[in-house]
Amino acid sequence: MTREPLPRILSGVQSSGKLHIGNYFGAIKQHIERQDKGDCFFFIADYHAMTTLKEAEEKELAAAAKNKQLAPRPARQILADNVRDVAVDYLALGLDPAKVAFFRQSDVPEVCELAWVLSTVSGMGLLERAHSYKDKVANGITPSVGLFTYPILMAADILIYRSHLVPVGRDQEQHLEMTRDIAGSFNHAFGEVFPMPVAVLNEAAVVPGTDGRKMGKSYGNTIDIFAEGKALERAVMGIVTDKTPLEAPLDPDTCNVFALYKLFASPPEQEELAAKYRAGGFGYGAAKKALLAKIDTYFAPARERRKLLERNPGLVEEALTAGAQRARAVAQVTVRLVRERLGMNQRPV
Ligand code: TRP
Repeated sequence: MTREPLPRILSGVQSSGKLHIGNYFGAIKQHIERQDKGDCFFFIADYHAMTTLKEAEEKELAAAAKNKQLAPRPARQILADNVRDVAVDYLALGLDPAKVAFFRQSDVPEVCELAWVLSTVSGMGLLERAHSYKDKVANGITPSVGLFTYPILMAADILIYRSHLVPVGRDQEQHLEMTRDIAGSFNHAFGEVFPMPVAVLNEAAVVPGTDGRKMGKSYGNTIDIFAEGKALERAVMGIVTDKTPLEAPLDPDTCNVFALYKLFASPPEQEELAAKYRAGGFGYGAAKKALLAKIDTYFAPARERRKLLERNPGLVEEALTAGAQRARAVAQVTVRLVRERLGMNQRPV
């Protein structure tokens, strides 16, 4: 019996430091769950991270000027630390390198060759319409050429592995449209090479932060995935609630603590806590303790795995190397085909 080949699922992760439970329920969890549903390629987008590295460095310098305890890191240290952190975090949270090709983008330099080729069939107008570029410039980033051509490198990431499905957040939808546009231009000019990739939008759960706004690093309202002990307790006990007196019934549907609890608890557990809310005589302090216990046990195995990986950096390196070898083999086949279509010689070996 012949089976349909599994779809190739690809996504890139750009790290910006410590991960919080908003990142987890918004993206990471879906990524990891997909490893059983397709031929997955996940990579750490370090070439892309370079487009905002200068800002990251300046931020650390500014913070260190205010707080003498902080040691600002040079750009190359920030880049290396961020790559390592994403790798360790994903592996600790359950990404299985035996199931997924998990690799660093820069370990497959062929992607830069394809990005150049694609840049010659990409219109300036297409790139000038990119929201994410316009937003970054509006936020005061002095753009480099690399920031402007970011979507072309992203198109190369997707097309070089001949990906079918690309799980991303809504903010990346336009980049996928651009990828299809660029793939179409290439196919039209040189013959059918690239399949048209489709975005799979994460049904990102809205995860409220400790102040009730969407959880986000820039709001300073996060609960970190790998927080434990006092730090975790401080974050959870600090969640903002209203001033309902202890005796009065509470409304679970408008409560941040309850919204977070729902992410971690089974439906019967959610019902049980909701009943306590409605009965009265149950305060927010007790609800927060229930949430704290849930978060603590939910991430306990990942925390332990993270510590193990920290002690054995060789394991992380091994996973990334194996992933890069698999990815590179696929990328080289695509680039060979592209060069052939372009009427170029195969590169001498
Ligand atoms: N731009 C993506 C983000 O910021 C990261 C990324 C780079 C990516 N290359 C990709 C995502 C290719 C999907 C496919 O989240």
